[in-house]
Amino acid sequence: MQIFYIRREFLLKYNLKNRGKDIRSKKCSPGTESIQKIILSSQTRDEKLLNICQLLKDAVLYYDWVGFYMAEQSKQELVLGPYVGAPTEHTRIPYGKGICGQAADKRDTIIVQDISGQTNYLSCSIDVRSEIVVPVFKDGRFVAELDIDSHELNQFSEKDKKYLELVCQRVSVLF
Ligand code: SME
Repeated sequence: MQIFYIRREFLLKYNLKNRGKDIRSKKCSPGTESIQKIILSSQTRDEKLLNICQLLKDAVLYYDWVGFYMAEQSKQELVLGPYVGAPTEHTRIPYGKGICGQAADKRDTIIVQDISGQTNYLSCSIDVRSEIVVPVFKDGRFVAELDIDSHELNQFSEKDKKYLELVCQRVSVLF
């Protein structure tokens, strides 16, 4: 049984590494207990947010860039917070600009399955193909966003949306 399990894991990893795209949709979202564990740790808020980004990116193959933007209400701008992935020039984003700015305006999750069709989009890297942005609310107030980019088209499903909205609910206690 154990051998079968190890062999299956090996084959799955081998396939993912070598034939990647066709089974890229197989994913393993970390349980919210792992998120909760980080939240309850004795680290600073930024360390916790960074660890959550890392956890998500490591666990889900098609999460290629994972980061938080903080809401600066007085300036109606988003400020780049902890992230994992390629460096981005978009360190401040006015509400309404790009996918992140639109999510800030709408106060709602936005999924873009193919960024090439977007006119209001801020490119972080030429490799990005799809994106999801999920707002974080603290006592009904918009305080931050979780932004995730994928290098593949059509990656984000209703399951991702529900899962990431739950993650953001947990994260809201940090604000
Ligand atoms: N693509 C985002 C900008 C943030 S970077 O992807 C990290 C947008 O259009 O708002």
